[in-house]
Amino acid sequence: MAQIKLQNIAHSYNPDATDSKYALKPFDMTWVDGGRYAILGPSGCGKSTMLNIMSGIVKPSEGRLLFDGDDVTDKSTSERNIAQVFQFPVIYGTMTVHDNLAFPLVCRGYDKSFIESKVNEVAEALSLEGLLSQSAKKLTADQKQLISLGRGLVRDNVAAVLMDEPLTVIDPDLKFRLRRKLKEINQKYKSTLIYVTHDQNEAMTFAENIIVMDDGEIVQIGSPAELFERPKTTFVGYFIGAPAMNLFDCDAVGSNAIKFGNVEISTKTDLSAIKNKRLKLGIRSEYLQLVKSAGKNTIHANIESVDDWGNHKLITANFEGSNIKIKVKREVEVPTEKIYLKFPAQNCCVYENEMLIS
Ligand SMILES: Nc1ncnc2c1ncn2[C@@H]1O[C@H](COP(=O)(O)OP(=O)(O)OP(=O)(O)O)[C@@H](O)[C@H]1O
Ligand SMILES: [Mg+2]
Repeated sequence: MAQIKLQNIAHSYNPDATDSKYALKPFDMTWVDGGRYAILGPSGCGKSTMLNIMSGIVKPSEGRLLFDGDDVTDKSTSERNIAQVFQFPVIYGTMTVHDNLAFPLVCRGYDKSFIESKVNEVAEALSLEGLLSQSAKKLTADQKQLISLGRGLVRDNVAAVLMDEPLTVIDPDLKFRLRRKLKEINQKYKSTLIYVTHDQNEAMTFAENIIVMDDGEIVQIGSPAELFERPKTTFVGYFIGAPAMNLFDCDAVGSNAIKFGNVEISTKTDLSAIKNKRLKLGIRSEYLQLVKSAGKNTIHANIESVDDWGNHKLITANFEGSNIKIKVKREVEVPTEKIYLKFPAQNCCVYENEMLIS
């Protein structure tokens, strides 16, 4: 394992073109040895490019990569000692499952007893024990992908295991169990795991730290709780959470108050120094409170619909043209026409030019 440092890394797939566009804009990042990370973002935002730069498949057009202080920017994939698992299975159909799992160790000349113990350990972790003697060709797509995953995990001395949407072809129940297994493997071996996904549930349930990307940029690095509580940009607020964060146009009206429609809302944000008075107020649907009557930080909104999701109700309301989503426990009695909604000051995030004012 190693600490991986990306220094001023940037990448363009066509650096000589006059209208060259960065697939990855310049950034610095340090991956802590033994960390469990997810890279999350919409299609085309640069997730695979970032991973491929770390493994050496792509050479960055700018910047340096350091593994434990050693510059590996010009080193090949094999010299970097990284394991990479791709979206679709990469296995040898002519070999048995056992030999597929053993292959990365056989290639590196490990002794037989060590190989056997590692193969058995990984096979057990991924519930592949019963298939070890079978030919890999005959397996289902998800079994094949498990073997790909196993081949990535069988070496425990790698700098990091990079996984690019590795569970896409796997059914949801198995996916959930595998993410838990991967977490256990990370805790047991202290291996650095980096998991690329565009699915926020996968990222939130797997990682200690999530790198949220948008359009070639890292927009926030944080724990699942930080991304939920204090999204640094409106994009993160919108991208993380189900439903997305409520975002409303508003105006600054005091040192920490904004005006939303005709209602003044106090927040915990210091607004005394801001230049632009046109702001956005963000609040999670989980934090809006249904109250009985008018009061401080409270709006009176029209109910448009109430959807029963089994474990909660999702209310859609309208206040002066703005659409509002409110998540409440299923047992909450929701009035039929109008509701009073309270905005707790500590849960209000205020954005200037789409960036959180902190
Ligand atoms: N080999 C390539 N040549 C030219 N452009 C590329 C190449 N690979 C990726 N790109 C472009 O670089 C940008 C980032 O692509 P990348 O594959 O890293 O995104 P991603 O986040 O992994 O997307 P997805 O979720 O669809 O896998 C995109 O605009 C993509 O079209
Ligand atoms: Mg990709």
